[in-house]
Amino acid sequence: MSEQERDPLAQEPVPESEANAEELTASEVSAASQEDLPADEHEHAEHEHDVLAEDAASPDPMETKEMLHVDFFEATWMRITAVVIAVFFIAVVISAFAVGFQLPGVYERIDPTTLYDEGSPWADPGLRELAPGKYELYIRAQIWSFTPNMVRVPAGSEVTFYVTSADVQHGFKLQDTNVNMMVLPGQINTLTAKFENPGTYDFVCHEYCGQLHHTMYGQLIVEPEQVAETEGGTD
Ligand code: CUA
Repeated sequence: MSEQERDPLAQEPVPESEANAEELTASEVSAASQEDLPADEHEHAEHEHDVLAEDAASPDPMETKEMLHVDFFEATWMRITAVVIAVFFIAVVISAFAVGFQLPGVYERIDPTTLYDEGSPWADPGLRELAPGKYELYIRAQIWSFTPNMVRVPAGSEVTFYVTSADVQHGFKLQDTNVNMMVLPGQINTLTAKFENPGTYDFVCHEYCGQLHHTMYGQLIVEPEQVAETEGGTD
């Protein structure tokens, strides 16, 4: 036995029938088979060693059992953990692609000192219709107001919000929707939302931005479709 322990790498290939014999250890078998080989076949046997090493290395049932043994309760917790991770992963995929939860994206960087320049969309921000039922809405935040602070769109509209700040950090949260963004000077953030249900949606600044922070709010009004059409005709 001590001989095996001293030189575990000495294992040599064994004929399968012999390797399966449980009472022989791998090295005992290999030692025996090595003796049987003529001297010039040792090299050949060396080559086969790589292929057979795996088979020969783990026929010991005790060793196999040792490696695979997991406590019952530990295994149970591992299964529960795997299920929880799978459920969370599926929930994230569904909320992202089926329900439409999105992270606000950085649309563009901008020099906040140029917001009021002529020709800048931020000098006169507001609603622009891109296609029927499809709008982009530029909202500029500054202490302590949003421009514009009153917007009307017809029900069923898809609105892409672009927000930036002219001065300090603000927030933009549109009640009862997933629209919730930081409003930072120097950065334009964007999110898209669809408004199926008529109603009044308040938006507020939810980043403390100074003494009159709490007065910083506005409204997005989603009109029933026929009303919006009438208004659109008179515009
Ligand atoms: Cu703007 Cu708080």
